[in-house]
Amino acid sequence: MNRAPEGQGGGGGAAKPESRPFAAATRLLYAGRDPSEQHGFVNTPIYRGSTVLYPNAEDFLQRKARFTYGTKGSPTTESLETAWTEMTGAAGTVLVPSGLAAIWIALMSCLKAGDHLLVTDSVYRPTRNFCDSIFKRFGVETSYYDPLIGADIAKLFKPNTRAVFTEAPGSLSFEMQDIPAIANVAHARDILVLMDNTWATPLFFSAHAMGVDISIEAGTKYLSGASDLLLGLVSANERCWKDLRATFDTMAPCAGPEDVFLALRGLRSMRVRLLHQQQAGLAVARWLSGRPEVARVLHPALESDPGHAIWKRDFTGASSLFSIVLKPMPDTAMHAFINALTLFGIGASWGGFESLAIPFDCKPFRTATTWNPGGPCVRIHIGLEDVGDLTADLERGFAAMRQTAGYAADGV
Ligand SMILES: Cc1ncc(COP(=O)(O)O)c(C=O)c1O
Repeated sequence: MNRAPEGQGGGGGAAKPESRPFAAATRLLYAGRDPSEQHGFVNTPIYRGSTVLYPNAEDFLQRKARFTYGTKGSPTTESLETAWTEMTGAAGTVLVPSGLAAIWIALMSCLKAGDHLLVTDSVYRPTRNFCDSIFKRFGVETSYYDPLIGADIAKLFKPNTRAVFTEAPGSLSFEMQDIPAIANVAHARDILVLMDNTWATPLFFSAHAMGVDISIEAGTKYLSGASDLLLGLVSANERCWKDLRATFDTMAPCAGPEDVFLALRGLRSMRVRLLHQQQAGLAVARWLSGRPEVARVLHPALESDPGHAIWKRDFTGASSLFSIVLKPMPDTAMHAFINALTLFGIGASWGGFESLAIPFDCKPFRTATTWNPGGPCVRIHIGLEDVGDLTADLERGFAAMRQTAGYAADGV
């Protein structure tokens, strides 16, 4: 079936009263896609273009056309924007060339010189770099807060506080934030709430329904699913949409059409991949929590995690990115563990079909909280490999770890 009834896909809208609304799994396949506009072809193709031609001078002067210029959008970008807007329940979406670009355009759309911004101390580090360098130079003051602060964030509000930036969970340290509690007190003071929702995606966390005004997704991760594209998506509610779109139109940081096309393909299978990766991630996380070399597994979907209650209350699923804290041991032993793995690549980013493992330490850049987990840390991304193969590989890593000089000296 490739003809979703009106109001049940394609252009979105409410379901007809007599028909049962489609489930999210089905809507994901139809959102933003209209084969009748593409000569019957299933997927909206790649439209490459700068110039759009107008039939006459009058229409050109009024920009009277569905698409007015390459930077403002094409049928390809419109497809993904429409799909994302429908999935997130937002008023609108813009597409930009990377997840980091999504972060800065979201911030620039709602803050100005003289404003104060609160950012979680667990934030993706380049967000912090942007705030501490360019935003500072432009006169926006940023202060960092404890990710576990919840409603007490109200105590940090100043007369000029304009926005709170959240990320749940933090993509290295995995603290879970109480987004509804933060949104509640922020909105009472007319303060906006922004969120980097890349970890859960709109499939597992309905950011706007939970009180987030502007939600950010690095499409580079699970939307791609193959580590082969760079993309950022920013969705905004009614309150913030006009300013977000105006900022985008003024600055034109537009995403490349090939990347948008690939993201549209990824979107259709994203739910299936995420459901599989959620289970595989949890299976590996549980296996790791039983290992003698591991002190703690930082994964909010594990019952033992301090953020589990919030995750269970607010999220409908978990992605496959988490961290482990090793028992005290020399960094060389942790490196030997990572270096011995054959199925886990060593590299930044995540969300692809391949598993990854990287060392990290949040201590040097935390400012509002102290990062002292008690042992070396490794972030793990679980891809689509067989779980038994992955645990066998990790077993190999632990064997290499145990052979490192000084391994036992640190008390394992
Ligand atoms: C949580 C989070 N947000 C945003 C980004 C930025 O995405 P991109 O690499 O597309 O700039 C990343 C990238 O690793 C990330 O982990």
